[in-house]
Amino acid sequence: MKVVSDIAQLQHHLASFDKEQIALVPTMGCLHEGHVSLIQKAKRLADIVVVSIYVNPLQFGANEDLDNYPKPLEQDLSVCEAEGVDFVFTPEQLYPESGIQVGLHVNDLSQTLCGVSRPHHFDGVVTVVNILFNIVRPHLAIFGEKDFQQLTIIQRMVSDLHMGIEVIGAETIRETDGLAKSSRNRYLNDDERTQAAEIYQSMLLMQNQAKQTSDMQQVIQAGETYLAQHGITTDYLSINDETTLQTLSVWDKQQPARIFIAAQIGKARLIDNMPLSSTNEEK
Ligand code: PAJ
Repeated sequence: MKVVSDIAQLQHHLASFDKEQIALVPTMGCLHEGHVSLIQKAKRLADIVVVSIYVNPLQFGANEDLDNYPKPLEQDLSVCEAEGVDFVFTPEQLYPESGIQVGLHVNDLSQTLCGVSRPHHFDGVVTVVNILFNIVRPHLAIFGEKDFQQLTIIQRMVSDLHMGIEVIGAETIRETDGLAKSSRNRYLNDDERTQAAEIYQSMLLMQNQAKQTSDMQQVIQAGETYLAQHGITTDYLSINDETTLQTLSVWDKQQPARIFIAAQIGKARLIDNMPLSSTNEEK
């Protein structure tokens, strides 16, 4: 495994591969089993796996956790080594010192869900992912369904801009009680950690309710009530189309739709989602 922080050096290494399929797994480090599942999927689908570790300042808002974002590099490198990663790309800075002048902008897909309270977040995400794609030039790239809005936006970026990269989603990896694995779970104390598992339970409840009604307001209400009973107030809780990310008040049981939740628990802002239809239900 090679650990490379220099862009030209990485490109020099990658240029020696001609016929091999290259997969990129972009991350911000602090790797857990969720990231590992992406790496394993990349290993199954490609010959060469590049994992990037870069805490992207452009996607953090002024009051967010950029300065405190954990950076256990040595631990992350051991994880990558154990998974048989070929290259770990650890750039110190991806933007010009004077600041970036030209970036990418997301329209309607960022005006909903997390984009409402994090207005510049997805512009920062697509800008950095575009830079990473330009540096690595992968054939395919893996992103987690845990951040479903991000996955949808990146799929749309690749399609709108004809990037010719296959963007592949990977299912959410959870703790045994259902809490989605996240670097931010470490901010939770014991009580908050127990409470956080109710997010998953509320989604199961709503998934079940949606089998009995097409009225999504009713389903949302049941979820809100359940969460309130467990002391959780949501930043948002809605059911949206998987492709347009538009909120659905009626679900016809045909179109792919998902439950999306964001909730602040203690110091952690947790997000999660789950498909509605039984056809693409989580395994
Ligand atoms: P990060 O939060 O480190 O996540 C890296 C990748 O891991 C993302 O594709 C995310 O969806 C996936 N992931 C996180 N938790 C997961 C889980 N429990 N199960 C499955 N996949 C999971 O997302 C980012 O970094 C950044 O926005 C990035 C794309 C790297 C751009 O800076």
